Amino acid sequence: MDWRVRFVDYPEQWRRQREELLPIIEGTIARGDLMLRQELRDFEAHLARFNSSARAVGVSNCTDGLRLLAHALDVGPGDEVVTVAHTFIATISPFVLRGATPVFADIGPDHLMDTRELAERVTERTKVIIPVHLNGRTVDMAEVTKVADQVGAVVLEDAAQALGATVDGQTAGTFGLASTYSFYPAKLLGALGDAGAVLTDDDDLADRLLRLRDHGRVGKAEIDGWGYNCRLDNLQAAILDWRLAQLPRWIERRRELARRYDERLHDLPDLRIPVGPDSDSRRRDVFQNYPVTTDARDRLVEHLTNDGIEVLISWPVPLHKQRGLDLEHWSLPRTEELCRQVLSLPMHPELEDWQIDHVADSVRRFFGAG
Ligand SMILES: Cc1ncc(COP(=O)(O)O)c(C=O)c1O
Repeated sequence: MDWRVRFVDYPEQWRRQREELLPIIEGTIARGDLMLRQELRDFEAHLARFNSSARAVGVSNCTDGLRLLAHALDVGPGDEVVTVAHTFIATISPFVLRGATPVFADIGPDHLMDTRELAERVTERTKVIIPVHLNGRTVDMAEVTKVADQVGAVVLEDAAQALGATVDGQTAGTFGLASTYSFYPAKLLGALGDAGAVLTDDDDLADRLLRLRDHGRVGKAEIDGWGYNCRLDNLQAAILDWRLAQLPRWIERRRELARRYDERLHDLPDLRIPVGPDSDSRRRDVFQNYPVTTDARDRLVEHLTNDGIEVLISWPVPLHKQRGLDLEHWSLPRTEELCRQVLSLPMHPELEDWQIDHVADSVRRFFGAG
């Protein structure tokens, strides 16, 4: 397919970053700094500061970050973990694989956890609550924290899609005990492969995670307990550290693009678009994605594809309707409806204004709005 607008444009991204990244990659390899070296420590320090967290622990990916947290908190059979079914499977799988029972709250109009429903789902067995800051937008954390405090549950934030988002001036990922981030290449901050991090203000937890990610080791030879191999590669850390310095500019560009979509699409009665970047002064969304909804979703996807526009459906099937997960007893009507209606339009900082206009013109033509 000859795309005019890619959903994510890795070749263009590399074209723009090559000159700056090549010496970093060359230098790191030439020095032999491949595992747990200064580049990783620098990245962790810069990442923690970027997010106003005390500590950052680099890990192999976000899923492994959640896995280490599930282990550190000793989550197991009899524990309930409450989250949403409109998320990636990785939000909950590390907890289920340790024997915990997944519990789901339905979502609200902004595609995020409905905190009123969260209050109805918690019990005395609720050990962990995982709000998911999907699409670059922060869940209403004041409510989540209140509910968690009522039942004595720990809050872990899945901030895989929300690095740098804020609500009421506070950064996503700093409300709970810890938060996890994905640096999968398509993310706001992407590596050239898999990578992730856990952020926390709790020094003991951070030290525990440092040991757990490296086979339980404390020094070169001393082993403190059972552990995993979930280290973040030093080369990826070097790349991520350079990219982190560019992130504020890239987030601003995403917000500009969202503004442009908003201007071009807000008047279409049969299309619902995200809350605009300037519409809610409490929030600063970072637009990992630009999800729109319509009853004519499948026809719109076909129409856009024919116009050379690559879109993504996240996700066509909610978790509780996936076969093989034993979750079919759940009924979450708003999650199910969203999965029939949602599609994400292209959103990445390399997009040119004309490409947003091309997408918007195509969407308008589909709805007969010219
Ligand atoms: C909301 C959410 N949670 C968790 C993950 C897992 O991240 P990773 O691929 O780095 O393990 C993703 C990745 O897509 C995600 O979007």
